[in-house]
Amino acid sequence: VIAVIIHWEHADWVYRHKAAARKVLKLYTHTMKAFGVSKLIVVDVDEAEPAIIDAEITCAMFASWQEAVASLEGFAPVFVEDLPRAQNLAAFRHPAGDACYIIGSDYGKLTPPAGGTVVRIPTRIPLWSHVAMAIVLNDRRQKERWC
Ligand SMILES: C[S@@+](CC[C@H](N)C(=O)[O-])C[C@H]1O[C@@H](n2cnc3c(N)ncnc32)[C@H](O)[C@@H]1O
Repeated sequence: VIAVIIHWEHADWVYRHKAAARKVLKLYTHTMKAFGVSKLIVVDVDEAEPAIIDAEITCAMFASWQEAVASLEGFAPVFVEDLPRAQNLAAFRHPAGDACYIIGSDYGKLTPPAGGTVVRIPTRIPLWSHVAMAIVLNDRRQKERWC
């Protein structure tokens, strides 16, 4: 099973416009479905309780990525962040079993634990988080014969 953990944060303009919030959430859920991933965990940083209305997606919410990861017993956590110590995605071997990919907020930076597995996509500027998620899920799919 593959799970994705995303952050929902500081989206004042989105919170004011429900249709915009739905669209932004769909950027994640539709992309996940395209890669056959249906398990989503939202870190609801602002306690905004975003509505994930999609019968094909199972969704849970937590206040922090630490709690979200703790809820996924047996899943190997992979942090997606452009850090100097991160492994280049191109050479990364995805966990063979259950894995969760932790994507940071569009308005902050993810701080993975010391010793945690971190992957980076070499880019000139930071990607929007759903784009980073798509690239990582596609990379896993392309390499699945390795897993
Ligand atoms: C918009 S970025 C956050 C950028 C951060 N606020 C900054 O200015 O450096 C949102 C998230 O997408 C992911 N991301 C974006 N670009 C990435 C890259 N080149 N490699 C790996 N992850 C990336 C990370 O999870 C990041 O936390």
